[in-house]
Amino acid sequence: MINKVFSPVFTKYNPIKQLRDYEKAYMPAVCQTHFQANFGSGEINEEIRSEKQTWNKQYEGDWSMLPWAGEEPTNSEKKYIDRFLTGKNQKILEYGCGTGKMASYLASQGHDVLAAEYSDVAVKKIKSTNPPFEIMEASAPSDIKDKNFDMITCIGVFHHQPPEVQEEFLKSFSQMITPDGQIIIMGWDDTDPEFVAMPKRISKQTKTRTWTINHLENVIPKYGLRIKNPPELINFTEIGWNADRILRCYVIERS
Ligand SMILES: C[S@@+](CC[C@H](N)C(=O)[O-])C[C@H]1O[C@@H](n2cnc3c(N)ncnc32)[C@H](O)[C@@H]1O
Repeated sequence: MINKVFSPVFTKYNPIKQLRDYEKAYMPAVCQTHFQANFGSGEINEEIRSEKQTWNKQYEGDWSMLPWAGEEPTNSEKKYIDRFLTGKNQKILEYGCGTGKMASYLASQGHDVLAAEYSDVAVKKIKSTNPPFEIMEASAPSDIKDKNFDMITCIGVFHHQPPEVQEEFLKSFSQMITPDGQIIIMGWDDTDPEFVAMPKRISKQTKTRTWTINHLENVIPKYGLRIKNPPELINFTEIGWNADRILRCYVIERS
């Protein structure tokens, strides 16, 4: 069962118009390929995965231009995390922290936060601000030797990994939480308009392949885990691109 939690602006989606808009305005070559593959003939061959340099490029420029920027997490993200983060002084891993906004928010609530991030450019910039949390570079959760987290949050990171890597991440997380620990994962849902229009979606921001996270539901029990709360969907309009998007949210605990 799916609960919809947040729907501020959710306009009618027109995939062909939207693809044409991308094509004209943003990334002609990749969108042309998408457009042909989805509405013309042939399959998309693009399997470009994001790498460290992909992310470094994002963080070299002005952070306010990033669609996931913002000094704070969105209200829907905050409300969602606050609902499940009831204890005080929790030990939290914020994996794939990006600009560090969720790590800052969690630290401001009195929690002991370790932020991990792939991009060394982002890590260096965040460190230079003397953040109220610890931060380290990581390309996979297995790089983190610290264990016993009360909570692991991972927002917008899984969908940049192919399904088999998502499963490896989940397996590592399962070994890093306390017996009562929780894992919160947010990533693109199968019903997200861009995936409906382009099942092999390439991110318009990073120009790399992305995946949805729905399949995780089937593998969660393999790692001694279970879904604590029925997966919920967050609808929002992506800043900068003005695109309607749908995130799927999992709250996972030990079974
Ligand atoms: C869309 S951004 C989201 C950032 C942040 N979680 C937020 O919600 O604002 C995805 C982030 O995941 C990071 N990332 C991607 N693959 C990663 C990996 N294998 N290990 C750690 N971080 C990764 C990227 O560097 C980027 O900062």
